[in-house]
Amino acid sequence: MIKDLSDVTGFTYQIDSERHYNIFGTEVESPLYGVRTSDEIRRVLLDTEAPLPSIVYWMMRDLSLKNAPNRKQTHDLRFDISYFVPAMFGREYLKTSGHYHPSPAEGQPAWPEVYGVLSGKAIYLLQKVNSLSAGPDEVVVEDCIIVEGNPGDKVIMPPDYGHVTINPLPEPLVMANWVSNRFSSQYGSVEQARGFAYYYIESEGGPRWVKNPAYRDVPPLREARVREVPDLGLTRDTALFTSGQQHPELMDWLNNPADRLDAIWSGIDIIGERKTYEL
Ligand SMILES: [Fe+2]
Repeated sequence: MIKDLSDVTGFTYQIDSERHYNIFGTEVESPLYGVRTSDEIRRVLLDTEAPLPSIVYWMMRDLSLKNAPNRKQTHDLRFDISYFVPAMFGREYLKTSGHYHPSPAEGQPAWPEVYGVLSGKAIYLLQKVNSLSAGPDEVVVEDCIIVEGNPGDKVIMPPDYGHVTINPLPEPLVMANWVSNRFSSQYGSVEQARGFAYYYIESEGGPRWVKNPAYRDVPPLREARVREVPDLGLTRDTALFTSGQQHPELMDWLNNPADRLDAIWSGIDIIGERKTYEL
């Protein structure tokens, strides 16, 4: 089935949600394509032996328009789209392996990121640790937050929080991001710990969050709702691509987060704590 995502994306873009095709308009520069395979993700799963789809998600990187400046070249800001297949990893909902971003300089907040959900539903699991080099036995997980994103939502990944994307629905999840082009992601001890501090699994009573026993201590799971942040170019009525393309200066916080921390956190409205379970 062809689904037109042009309005929510900001340029001509359709998906074939059965054959997993991505179709871009002729005004769009051809992106750089990449895939994440199950083999790259297996090590962070609750059930490392679970039967998996060979490709978990497609990445289309550095999207831009042929007749407009490329914001990677003018502002070091990159626009990407990721397409997640609908599948389960055994009892666990399909997810990314999870990564952290580094800091521009010692003592500075790490680079943030912003996701825009285009189709389906995303659950983002955010996790802050005291050290990226410490193993699961020594690392202190300081905070865990979950936030749900629906089409049109712009969801901030705040500085110093690693993030996992989960597809909780039996349909593709398609999401975009603006992010600084000045760094490479870091994985810390995520593989050694077999994932982040919580797993999101199917159970008889419905989905539930269970603690990853590899970590010594796991903090409560805080739940947040997305809020618009017009000061950072994030509103529901403008496509994420369009905001950054037309007003890249509004996205400067992606490269210089230190003096915009209050605005960044205003997009994450903590509403309570979610019940969690032992494995
Ligand atoms: Fe990221």
